[in-house]
Amino acid sequence: MAKKIALLFLCLTLYADTFDRACVPCHQRRGVALKPIFFDYLLYYSSERGVKGAMREFLLRPDPKKRLYKKGPIYRHRIDPGTLQKALDEYWERYKVIGKIK
Ligand code: HEC
Repeated sequence: MAKKIALLFLCLTLYADTFDRACVPCHQRRGVALKPIFFDYLLYYSSERGVKGAMREFLLRPDPKKRLYKKGPIYRHRIDPGTLQKALDEYWERYKVIGKIK
């Protein structure tokens, strides 16, 4: 029983932390902070759908003209679309300001 519960928790944390596993470590290593990038996207695209859509598009097919982060060479993210979707949902939940203002 205890083992099952432990396993369940493990699964939940694995599920919940896609963003922390798939995005954060590399960004930390390279000194590319994800929080300011999020707010740049939020300012530019303003809606949840706009932010997630633009990031998804950019991370799957990087286009220098649509780039918001202008420092350093462009990085070609290789993330499978399913993981990316989950990661972007968590990214949004973490930093969205809508709801916190109310
Ligand atoms: C192996 C390294 C690495 C991983 C993993 C990684 N990134 Fe990045 N990312 C970078 C680097 C380096 C840059 C800065 C260069 C650039 O903009 O292309 C960047 C830039 C970005 C940008 C800015 C794009 C713009 O408009 O300029 C976003 C948004 C982003 N990453 C999101 C993510 C998300 C979300 C994940 C996880 C699903 C992720 N990254 C995973 C290295 C990584």
